[in-house]
Amino acid sequence: MKGIILAGGLGTRLFPLTKVTNKHLLPVYDKPMIYYPIQTLVNAGITDVLLVTGGNSAGDFLRLIGNGKELKLKHIEYTYQEGEGGIAQALSLAEEFADNGKICIILGDNIIEKNINRAVENFKKQAKGAKIILKEVSDPERFGVPVLDEDRIIAVEEKPEVPKSKFAVIGIYMFDNTVFDIIRTLKPSERGELEITDVNNAYIKRGDMTYEILDGWWTDAGTFDSLRIATNLVAETGANKV
Ligand code: G1P
Repeated sequence: MKGIILAGGLGTRLFPLTKVTNKHLLPVYDKPMIYYPIQTLVNAGITDVLLVTGGNSAGDFLRLIGNGKELKLKHIEYTYQEGEGGIAQALSLAEEFADNGKICIILGDNIIEKNINRAVENFKKQAKGAKIILKEVSDPERFGVPVLDEDRIIAVEEKPEVPKSKFAVIGIYMFDNTVFDIIRTLKPSERGELEITDVNNAYIKRGDMTYEILDGWWTDAGTFDSLRIATNLVAETGANKV
């Protein structure tokens, strides 16, 4: 399975830290933020990746990551997202790279304590469809939130005012090759973006979505508070344990 790391956007919630550089190049304790999602994929055996960047300092990713050898990648490609079209729009740039195979997508500001190895192995065995990963959080209204009927997922709501569960849909998604057809049917949301939550809902409607609950902590790092929390968690316990 190939991996896709999404590291675009203008990082406006971290302004002025992101005035001259890309959010994913900022430090999280002792490493640039982007190292953590790369390590998450490498730990799961995903070493052929596409990095989608955009906005500021796109060229700095090449200087930092190069051919990926130091980070144990076998192969890395880069592409550039113009504008702020959203996660699903960034993903649409990966269609050629995916080459009709299954893909694992990770958002460049998502950091985990442990690994996604079990989820990846299970998805390899899944005949078709998609898999998302959930984590119980204290502030689900900040994220995509699953609506559960017993242990079945019946919808995902993007940043609902009144969340229907305590879980967040974390920024790691596994899709089969029909994802690109789904993206072509999407319309921009109120924030003007093609939403990954709409992609997930399309798979749920087809009855093709599975999920796993993540073991260990998870955080994003796209706001001042979450960046501080991420730095503290990594400093205190370390990340990406196998
Ligand atoms: C995005 C997704 C959201 C998901 C989150 C995980 O939110 O839209 O569904 O829970 O990433 O980090 P954003 O960071 O764009 O606000």
